[in-house]
Amino acid sequence: MGNEHYVSYSTIHKLVKKLADKIVATNYQADYIVAIGSGGFIPARILKTFLNIPILAVGVSYYGIDNKPLDVIEKIQWIDDAQKHLQGKRIILIDEVDDSRTTLLYCIDELIKSNLKEIAVLVLHNKDKKKAGEFPKEVSHYFAAQDLKNVWIKYPWDAIEIDKHNIKARS
Ligand code: G4P
Ligand code: MG
Repeated sequence: MGNEHYVSYSTIHKLVKKLADKIVATNYQADYIVAIGSGGFIPARILKTFLNIPILAVGVSYYGIDNKPLDVIEKIQWIDDAQKHLQGKRIILIDEVDDSRTTLLYCIDELIKSNLKEIAVLVLHNKDKKKAGEFPKEVSHYFAAQDLKNVWIKYPWDAIEIDKHNIKARS
């Protein structure tokens, strides 16, 4: 289907390398990689190969109220003693996709409460669509490895049959 975009693990690795090269070129000195689960976990681990700094993980979930489509986000996993670990620190926040940006903005707002010094946001893919908002001033860098139209991205970690996925990713 023309509105689906299949991506292989090999391509993911190369997109992360591109992000690592971009952030290294800015001389941004990050203390931690913060991965937004679950889509940010595998990109974060690959990024660690290039930057060699520790990974912290956060997770959110969405729920509707009274079966209304309006989703509310809440933290389901966060950083222990976040203030102690993050105060005055520079982080790289990584996720797989900048889609509506709702998740990213929520995580950034929550992380800022720990008095971070600076945030660099890295995503594999940015979709060309209306975003939930602008990034706050603490976000000093933003890089997307690839810009896409408003397509549905098929990531390899969602594949049930990875060989079939890879064939689609190649074509
Ligand atoms: P954003 O801040 O990163 O733009 O995320 P948004 O809230 O708009 O996205 C809601 C969920 O939809 C996120 O997953 C996001 O990863 C997922 N998503 C958005 N576009 C695509 C796409 O093209 N392909 C795939 N596979 N997923 C997409 P989540 O609920 O946080 O779950 P998880 O899959 O990361 O665990
Ligand atoms: Mg995600």
